[in-house]
Amino acid sequence: MRRRAERAARMLALLLAATGCLVVTIAASQAAEPGASQLPVFEDVGAWRDLFRRPKVSEPVADADQEARVRLGRHLFFERLLSGSGRMACSTCHDPARFFQDDRPRAVGVFYRSLARRTPPLFDLAEVRPLMRDGRAASLEEQVLMPVLDPDEMGQTAEGLLEKLGRVAFYRRTFAETFPAEGLSLPAIARALAAYVATLESPPTAFDRWVEGEEDALEARERRGLAIFLGKGGCIACHVGRRLTDDRFHDIGLPTSDLGRGRFDPDRASRFAFRTPSLRWVARRPPYMHDGSLGSLRAVVDHYDRGGIDRPSRSPSVRPLGLTEQEKGDLIAFLETLSRPPPETRVSALASDRHR
Ligand code: HEC
Ligand code: HEC
Repeated sequence: MRRRAERAARMLALLLAATGCLVVTIAASQAAEPGASQLPVFEDVGAWRDLFRRPKVSEPVADADQEARVRLGRHLFFERLLSGSGRMACSTCHDPARFFQDDRPRAVGVFYRSLARRTPPLFDLAEVRPLMRDGRAASLEEQVLMPVLDPDEMGQTAEGLLEKLGRVAFYRRTFAETFPAEGLSLPAIARALAAYVATLESPPTAFDRWVEGEEDALEARERRGLAIFLGKGGCIACHVGRRLTDDRFHDIGLPTSDLGRGRFDPDRASRFAFRTPSLRWVARRPPYMHDGSLGSLRAVVDHYDRGGIDRPSRSPSVRPLGLTEQEKGDLIAFLETLSRPPPETRVSALASDRHR
């Protein structure tokens, strides 16, 4: 369902770009004093909002078995016995207080081994396929044991893991109750961890309010930034949907020796290509990119403005933009609306609030 809705959003974005039938015009955007006359005028604003709307999905039926798996998965997520050193849990890198990331440019694994890439956030992943920055995991269940068994990441072995957990009465009992067929086993550990990770959701933002129809959820400057995101900046070509990602792989021209998707896919466009990341809460989650090489949103916007390295794999949607200083500032102001809670919740909004 959600996939279909995202495809529809992408089609709409392409259609809009191709026909130019919906235009975002900015009246007198260069004027010194921001005022009502400079507000971008979104023609047919509903269609633009649809590009970011949460796809309609049927609510999962509350299921006691699934809840038990989630509870067990949560225990395992914070469990240091999952690492070879006994000192590292999933939460060491995916810190719940930091949107399930850490603040290191690249992750540091067991015994202080440096990993090649930055820890990504773990929210809104329930339906994302494939996972990992290069797409090498087909599903959450396939992904969650990868860090455990990777010698540089958590450095545990299958035998070590089962033996250490098997010594704990709580795990022996809970696995037997929760997974009567498998008991304490690798597939059961994977199912529990995946069930927990699938429940993690990013909190609502001020921008969600705009999407829901509250025009004043964004200030003038932020609306100008949104117009650049949709128009001159071309960001919408890849950052679309409620999570502001198409979940596809693109080379955006960063200087890197990491082939990304290109390690698995011979297609020319896959070289140096990484999965488009979610932009939810992005201003709170520096540094940016697969290698944490850009320290601030300003650095990110400067990168897109320059267009990155011109090479055969670079996406045709990434090219020098010629943004003015004011446009860069407005674009950053818009990205910040994706990164702050909505203003005090109105009673009318509560009725339609789907978040817990
Ligand atoms: C040493 C730090 C570290 C630890 C510990 C760690 N991860 Fe990660 N995690 C990463 C990094 C780095 C990536 C990105 C790797 C890549 O894309 O190549 C990642 C990627 C992921 C992804 C894919 C996210 C996406 O958007 O594709 C999931 C899911 C995940 N980790 C879950 C877990 C779970 C569950 C555990 C514990 C069993 C765990 N991680 C332990 C650093 C860590
Ligand atoms: C061709 C598709 C594409 C376009 C167009 C695009 N992006 Fe991206 N964006 C990506 C990909 C892919 C990455 C991740 C690259 C990496 O990890 O090396 C990314 C990363 C980012 C990040 C860092 C997120 C993080 O968590 O590390 C930000 C912020 C961002 N883009 C904002 C923008 C803005 C603003 C624009 C418009 C000026 C834009 N993007 C245009 C595909 C795109």
